[in-house]
Amino acid sequence: MSITVRAPAKINLHLGVGPGRPDGYHELATVYQAIGLYDDVTATEAPEWSVTVAGSGDLDVSDVPLDDHNIVIRAGRAIVDHHGIDRSALISIAKSIPVAGGLAGGSADAAAALVALDRLWDLETSDADLLAIAGRLGSDVPFALLGGTAYGTGRGELVEPVSDNGQWWWVVVPNGAGLSTAAVYGEYDRLRLGETLRAPEGLFGALADAWPEGLAGELHNDLEPASLELRPELAHTKRDILECGAYAALLSGSGPTWLGLAGDADHARDIAADLTGKYPVVLCAPGPVAGAHVVTYA
Ligand code: C5P
Repeated sequence: MSITVRAPAKINLHLGVGPGRPDGYHELATVYQAIGLYDDVTATEAPEWSVTVAGSGDLDVSDVPLDDHNIVIRAGRAIVDHHGIDRSALISIAKSIPVAGGLAGGSADAAAALVALDRLWDLETSDADLLAIAGRLGSDVPFALLGGTAYGTGRGELVEPVSDNGQWWWVVVPNGAGLSTAAVYGEYDRLRLGETLRAPEGLFGALADAWPEGLAGELHNDLEPASLELRPELAHTKRDILECGAYAALLSGSGPTWLGLAGDADHARDIAADLTGKYPVVLCAPGPVAGAHVVTYA
């Protein structure tokens, strides 16, 4: 028997980053949104843990580890340890979320693996336990379980749903060369940018109003200067997105993917069409969308 679970990419509508903590992480005040780009993860009982990865279209998956370092294997071991059982699985990842793009694709895979294995073995893990296991795997993994739009605190792993009346449309412009999240946070510290933790303030009102131009003025990412310091050429993409008529250009997480906020689906397609000549991959995605959910039992 196999179970396939689909999990979404995330973006950060607001990413406030405070000072470094003794554990090496940074305190966050962030608003996540799940968007319509997905990885599908299929779990099948097997005598040993193993993972396969396939990229959709031209997606480069060569940097995804195929050994115990893959976060889905860590997720699998974490859930069997939690239940004190001795089982293992083959986990196959069909990737559509760009790798190392600031879209939390690895976190989506981990969340999907947790849900798939929970269902495969009828473990009936409580939501609270699943979120706690997810939080130990990575800061963004609990949000990939939850989906929708959510406020994230702690190092990002403490999530609560946020009221969002919008049907937002994003133009997603990935970059061929990924950025290491840890390197961006390191640069953030070097530039001494994290002295105070900035709260989202007007963002919650803009989400409730469901007005794209209002949301545009509230989008914020503290990591943008650090990412641009490491990769100055990324500023061109921001300029191109704005020149094509997006209401705002927002760096996704630690980058290098950029997002353009559009007024509706047609506007998003127009912006994407204008950018397509210059960028090899330009995608359109709605948000918010559901967190990790079962799509197939076979
Ligand atoms: O939690 P995750 O494994 O996704 O984090 C990857 C890296 O990003 C961490 O090792 C850390 O360097 C950095 N990070 C951070 N503060 C956070 C989240 C991530 O410094 N709140």
